[in-house]
Amino acid sequence: MTPSPSWDSPPKTLTLPSNTVHVWRASLAVPASYLRTLEGTLTADECARAERFYFQEHRERFIAGRGLLRNILSRYLGREPGQLRFCYNSYGKPALIEEADAEGLRFNLSHSHDMALYAVTHDREIGIDIERFRPDVEAEKLAERFFSPREATVLRTLPEQLRKEGFFNCWTRKEAYIKAEGEGMAIPLSSFDVSLAPGEPAALLRSQKDPQEASRWSMQALDPGPGYAAALAVKGHDWELKCWQWASM
Ligand SMILES: CC(C)(COP(=O)(O)OP(=O)(O)OC[C@H]1O[C@@H](n2cnc3c(N)ncnc32)[C@H](O)[C@@H]1OP(=O)(O)O)[C@@H](O)C(=O)NCCC(=O)NCCS
Repeated sequence: MTPSPSWDSPPKTLTLPSNTVHVWRASLAVPASYLRTLEGTLTADECARAERFYFQEHRERFIAGRGLLRNILSRYLGREPGQLRFCYNSYGKPALIEEADAEGLRFNLSHSHDMALYAVTHDREIGIDIERFRPDVEAEKLAERFFSPREATVLRTLPEQLRKEGFFNCWTRKEAYIKAEGEGMAIPLSSFDVSLAPGEPAALLRSQKDPQEASRWSMQALDPGPGYAAALAVKGHDWELKCWQWASM
């Protein structure tokens, strides 16, 4: 299996050559003063969305997540974080509003508890998902309900001690794929198969919608740190991955 790359400190001047994917790992548990700075970069609609969270910790995670997204993208675009404008497809997937200087930059993000991952590339579909391991997860029950019949069978036949890992491999790969496609739950989760057995390379194996679909996509398992699983889905195969650690101020 292709090992997950290490999380390096980014260089001062960052470039994103074509056929490259950058993934950023960031903690959403940022110091209060930095949270205020990040909040200051949000647009009125984003602030309104933050206000709708009932729990303060959820509100703060949203502000940190969105503020960091703006900061990360602004490093590639050479613009102020607060100047970036997003649009959304009809399933809620955010994208940069196409302006002359958006440079075909594509991104996707995922957060779980206080960890976030951001995937950035040029001119190709991309999706990312991170999930925190929950020890009490009813893996087999959820698999019967949400996974494809093949995936549920593979999970069931794994040795007991590998089943949790297999479950989260499957979950994050399925989510990364539907997030790359951008149609969310409009794509039935049982309509496609991903690999899941620990040690097997991450891959889209089959899709009911088109026999060629699996060959169009590549996947990469990521190791965000203890207690988390993550996966990346990218259209095409001709790309290289670099992973960066975001240092909060
Ligand atoms: C919204 C969804 C795309 C992902 O939700 P999620 O896994 O709860 O959340 P994640 O943290 O991974 O991703 C959320 C981010 O994805 C982005 N996003 C929103 N809608 C999206 C879409 N249709 N496609 C891609 N990305 C999307 C947003 O940036 C969002 O962050 P924000 O709310 O801070 O702006 C959707 O697929 C969903 O609801 N999934 C849950 C499905 C499920 O129950 N799966 C069972 C196991 S297989």
